[in-house]
Amino acid sequence: MNWAEDDVAAHTAPVGERELADPVTNPWGTTRNTGADLHSKRPERKYPEPEPLDEHGPARIVALCNQKGGVGKTTTTINLGAAIAEYGRRVLLVDFDPQGALSVGLGRLDPRELDLTVYNLLMQRDVTVEDVLLKTDVDGLDLIPSNIDLSAAEVQLVGEVAREQMLGRALRPVINDYDVVLIDCQPSLGLLTVNALTAADGVIVPLECEFFALRGVALLMDTIQKVQERLNEDLVIDGFLGTMYDPRTLHAREVLSTIIDGFGDKVYGTVINRTVRFPDATVAGEPITRFDSTSAGANAYRDLAKEVLARWPLSGHGA
Ligand SMILES: Nc1ncnc2c1ncn2[C@@H]1O[C@H](COP(=O)(O)OP(=O)(O)OP(=O)(O)O)[C@@H](O)[C@H]1O
Ligand SMILES: [Mg+2]
Repeated sequence: MNWAEDDVAAHTAPVGERELADPVTNPWGTTRNTGADLHSKRPERKYPEPEPLDEHGPARIVALCNQKGGVGKTTTTINLGAAIAEYGRRVLLVDFDPQGALSVGLGRLDPRELDLTVYNLLMQRDVTVEDVLLKTDVDGLDLIPSNIDLSAAEVQLVGEVAREQMLGRALRPVINDYDVVLIDCQPSLGLLTVNALTAADGVIVPLECEFFALRGVALLMDTIQKVQERLNEDLVIDGFLGTMYDPRTLHAREVLSTIIDGFGDKVYGTVINRTVRFPDATVAGEPITRFDSTSAGANAYRDLAKEVLARWPLSGHGA
């Protein structure tokens, strides 16, 4: 099977005359996509500083989703969330991965010690969202943590009535308290991720700028489409985010160029470069905007926050 045909062409704008790629024999098509034309494909655009808000809520709920592991979902949830909070928005982060990496990345060093997590919120009717909410050290940034308990939910939810709607229902009581809710999904397309997509208004898909970036994206698009058809017709793809980009390598430029060919304007102009400051910040349990506030990485997420807010539909959603 031609993966690019499957992954890109079937679900996105036409890719023109360029022969589609094959991951083994012909990864970038016959017209080698050198990425040399990146600048013309993606003219640089500056987005304004978001205006202060007089009132808060209702929140726009966004799922950070890609079933491929290690593409920057958690890093983007933490740092985009912290950057949006810097602009005076109230932000709630939902750790929806039993690995609990988001909880660790925000200073909850041992999530196993938490009494109440998103698992209890989903499975116990007497646990409310206020019971599981934690403040973080960043002003305006709250967290619903997770730990390994959540891995049982996937199986236990199967027997529930309206099993796909459990997360959305659980979050409803606090929607008016926040401007933005970001849900950090686990690397799978199972029932937990479907819950996140059902609860969400938008999806952000982080894509690591490396060889197999688009592998499996077709399956993700299929899942999103099914959720749109059956569970949540208002769901939209907010954008695709290039992560771990190394501007010095031809390879990364090629990949980014191919992503833009596939998804056009849906690709954020902001790209997150690869830097060791991100893992360092995770170890320190802080967003990069605090850990190394003036770093290029921190500023990249501020740029992304501006772009994300500027692109959202204007409907009282904290934009
Ligand atoms: N821009 C970046 N530069 C360098 N390292 C990064 C960058 N973004 C993320 N990382 C590192 O890459 C690893 C994977 O990132 P992250 O945990 O955010 O991905 P993920 O998609 O959430 O992974 P999983 O699918 O396992 O949940 C982490 O160690 C993180 O610190
Ligand atoms: Mg993660």
